[in-house]
Amino acid sequence: MTITTTKLHPVIGAEVHGFDFLAPMDEGTLTALKDAFATHHILLFRGVDITDAQHVSFSRHFSDLESFPQSNMGAATVPEIYRVSNVDTDGQILNVESDTARFQSLTQLWHTDSSYLPTPSLGAVLRGLEVTSDGGETQFSNMFAAYEALSDDMKEKIAPLKARHSFQYSRALKNQPPMKAEELAKVPPVDQPIVRVHPNGRRSLYFSAPMMEGVVGWSVEDSKALFADLLDHISQPEFVYKHKWSRHDLVMWDNRCTMHCVTPYAAATERRIMHRTALVGTELVVGI
Ligand code: OGA
Ligand code: MN
Repeated sequence: MTITTTKLHPVIGAEVHGFDFLAPMDEGTLTALKDAFATHHILLFRGVDITDAQHVSFSRHFSDLESFPQSNMGAATVPEIYRVSNVDTDGQILNVESDTARFQSLTQLWHTDSSYLPTPSLGAVLRGLEVTSDGGETQFSNMFAAYEALSDDMKEKIAPLKARHSFQYSRALKNQPPMKAEELAKVPPVDQPIVRVHPNGRRSLYFSAPMMEGVVGWSVEDSKALFADLLDHISQPEFVYKHKWSRHDLVMWDNRCTMHCVTPYAAATERRIMHRTALVGTELVVGI
């Protein structure tokens, strides 16, 4: 296969043309995809009408796949697929006040996936099965570019800091029922540097609004003020590509150097069904 790319935004994202999900992957094409992923951090493929099993086997070319710490959120048939949806597995729109719907609304906060793991997810592959006509877009921000554009004072201030990331904290934000003790024991809080150094030496911001209890050693109030400043910074259009979904779009993103969030939509009436695989991380979060 010969693939080509066109940029989606000056600093983040590219659309891939010429890739056939139904053909066997060859080494040259996989290398070209990995290169494009390393360059653009977000890859978009359109018209991807594939099964969950094909979605899983495509994802496995990039890493092993995570399973979610909670047992009740997966797709019924393929355990590696996590449903991001306001529709239950019987096809009914969820009550917006239900635990599941409120938990899913956490995706509307800027985050990077599974930052609560010592080795967080490398990236994710998300496919649109039913998409919204209004809202429900996914925004992606480039954390290398956002870090580099910070003032020198801010860079100095955050250089030594770690944030405490906790899965339990994210559940508490949406008053979720208690997790089973054995599930909770698998996801204790972890402290992650706020400035992350990529193996290529480039620095990025690394944080995640729904997971962060606070800056280690700081008061809740000071932590919240810093996170608010950083969120204002990373959400500026110069760093952000906003993806308006069409059915059968497939987007893969790099969790190590981007953040993402979903824009609000009418979850009580509009159906949104997305299937996702999460690529297992291969490196600890290294600070400076
Ligand atoms: C995710 C996520 C975004 C979306 O799957 O991790 O945040 O657009 N999804 O549903
Ligand atoms: Mn996410």
